[in-house]
Amino acid sequence: MLDLLIHNATLPDGRTNMSVAVRDGTIVDVAQGLHAPAGHTIDAQGHLLSPPFVDAHFHMDATQSYGLPRVNQSGTLLEGIALWGELKPLLTQEALVERALTYCDWAVAKGLLAIRTHVDVCDPRLLAVEALLEVKKRVAPYLDLQLVAFPQDGVLRGPHGPQQHLDNLARALDMGVDVVGGIPHFERTMADGTLSVKLLCEMAAQRGLMVDMHCDESDDPLSRHVETLAFETQRLGLHGRVTGSHLTSMHSMDNYYVSKLIALMAEAQLNVVANPLINITLQGRHDSYPRRRGMTRVPELLAAGLPVAFGHDCVMDPWYALGSGDMLEVAHMGLHVAQMTSQAAMRQCFAAVTTQPARILGLPGYGLEVGCHADMVLLQARDTIEAIRLRATRLQVIRRGQVIASSAPSISQLQLDGRPHEVRWMP
Ligand code: FE2
Repeated sequence: MLDLLIHNATLPDGRTNMSVAVRDGTIVDVAQGLHAPAGHTIDAQGHLLSPPFVDAHFHMDATQSYGLPRVNQSGTLLEGIALWGELKPLLTQEALVERALTYCDWAVAKGLLAIRTHVDVCDPRLLAVEALLEVKKRVAPYLDLQLVAFPQDGVLRGPHGPQQHLDNLARALDMGVDVVGGIPHFERTMADGTLSVKLLCEMAAQRGLMVDMHCDESDDPLSRHVETLAFETQRLGLHGRVTGSHLTSMHSMDNYYVSKLIALMAEAQLNVVANPLINITLQGRHDSYPRRRGMTRVPELLAAGLPVAFGHDCVMDPWYALGSGDMLEVAHMGLHVAQMTSQAAMRQCFAAVTTQPARILGLPGYGLEVGCHADMVLLQARDTIEAIRLRATRLQVIRRGQVIASSAPSISQLQLDGRPHEVRWMP
């Protein structure tokens, strides 16, 4: 006897009339038109059944702090960092936990069941680390949180000095933070940025951990720390375990240099995370017109075989006033900013918020194959492109075979010329 049988589903690869059978929280069969007794049955009515959304880049310690202690006036990355610095001494663990848990509720409602979040480790109290480790434990039954030790003020530049910041980072990792972070473009000099990449990659190599650095989040075409990140990855044998987040300077780099750089990144098997909502908002702020989009070269990186994910990065914090945990909104923006408008490219945008980030995070048991965790989201759309177009309603969100969230189908009632009718948003 099965625990759950979903039938008449469309899968992201385009297969229709598919059934997914679940026992003990695991997918035990995926086939067309299965019939078997089950404790619970869901008729997907031809809707898209996808593995859950995954966010490869977020800041859960800052979420929902918008307006605290004031709003970012210039809209720049640098004012956001300064504002976060003003807020940090005022943070309490209770407030951090509460805001993060609220965000996790939003995420689950949107079918987002795995998040890699950076956590600022510059404050020697490590308040945010303690808070997010607590949140990680509490949400574990329904949401996978992966934490990155992130020296927001620069591991070498920050106010407490390099040794204190390196110690903070090591302590955070000892406490259970999963990944080593960094921010080389924010260090005082190019040389310090290079040194920070070297030190942090060595720390990760010694501990057998992954690396995810905010790297070259800048419009400066000469911000080339990703080159060092690729070099250190290759030197230390960290292939496939290192992620360059943002890489916005690549947008402005010389094409000849990029042709060399992407090959080096591919050789090191770097992972890439672009953050379309935030990149289009923060980059180009010093331009008049034409104004640069700032997002990294997503189609070219994909064409070179690098895994590329789209992250949400910020929701209602010093850098970004909007957002709701909806990874389809992230994919929608990424598609536009990167002009990924072919059918194949639009499907890649859906993969950039599902399978690609799952691969980058190294999530075990992710997917819709036999043996995978029975984690799924049923969307009110017929395929992945329609899901992005409509930012489709999450009809059911399933974790380990249990429905943990549901939403009513989106239907609008119209009254035109005294004639009532419905718009179902799916022709
Ligand atoms: Fe970030």
